[in-house]
Amino acid sequence: MEAVRRTLIAGNWKMNLLREEAYVLIGGILQESAPYTGVDTLICPPFLYLEIAVQITKNAPLFVGAQNLFYEESGPFTGEISAAMLREVGCSHVIIGHSERRAYFRESNRELNRKISACLACGMTPILCIGETLEQRTTGATFETLNEQLTYGLQGIDGASVCTMVIAYEPVWAIGTGVSAESSQAEEVHRFIRDVIAKFTDEESAQALRIIYGGSVNSANAGELLSCDNVDGALVGGASLSLDSFCGIVRTADSLKKQSAAMS
Ligand code: 13P
Repeated sequence: MEAVRRTLIAGNWKMNLLREEAYVLIGGILQESAPYTGVDTLICPPFLYLEIAVQITKNAPLFVGAQNLFYEESGPFTGEISAAMLREVGCSHVIIGHSERRAYFRESNRELNRKISACLACGMTPILCIGETLEQRTTGATFETLNEQLTYGLQGIDGASVCTMVIAYEPVWAIGTGVSAESSQAEEVHRFIRDVIAKFTDEESAQALRIIYGGSVNSANAGELLSCDNVDGALVGGASLSLDSFCGIVRTADSLKKQSAAMS
């Protein structure tokens, strides 16, 4: 039997918005997304706003997650934030290995593997980001790159834990460029990711795993991307900073879910 995967629409705010703007956006999302209960909605604001975001969204169907963590439990790691600290303020998810962190902060697959373990150990859901650069795509190295990111990133993590995670396919060439992957390209890669995970764990875990797409998702292209069998949601950057765009994506995802439920 095919697993029913709940769609996840996640907003990665990156290093954007001052406090007042953040409050307004969170309040708007709370109100606008309330009827769309067919999907999971998540916001990932900067660290400083996490606690207040959790307080504002208490008892509402809106998850709050972080954009990063450090894998050590505590100690002399100036400027870092631990998994336990994030759990304590009420984060449910953590984005791990975003391409911006891989590129600007030189985060390696090995390091990301430790971050995933720390995140899981504290009971939060890691969202592992993987994706190829334009050069890797044009030289035919896409699948090899993704395979490596998955294999080293998930090394030693047991199958039961892997299937509770989220994998975000974010082609680097599509991030912030306004050029999203074609839905056929996204579907091809997501299927590949599921196959790799199945070999790594087992078919059942792989079917349960949510694989979401990120890279220039907006309210106009979300419907086509989210209609793909193996696209289980979206990780939204720029469009998550606009109430209309983000809630438009959530609304689209919710109506697709309701349509498919009505057909089955
Ligand atoms: P954009 O939606 O701005 O392309 O960013 C995608 C992203 O990096 C989400 O993590």
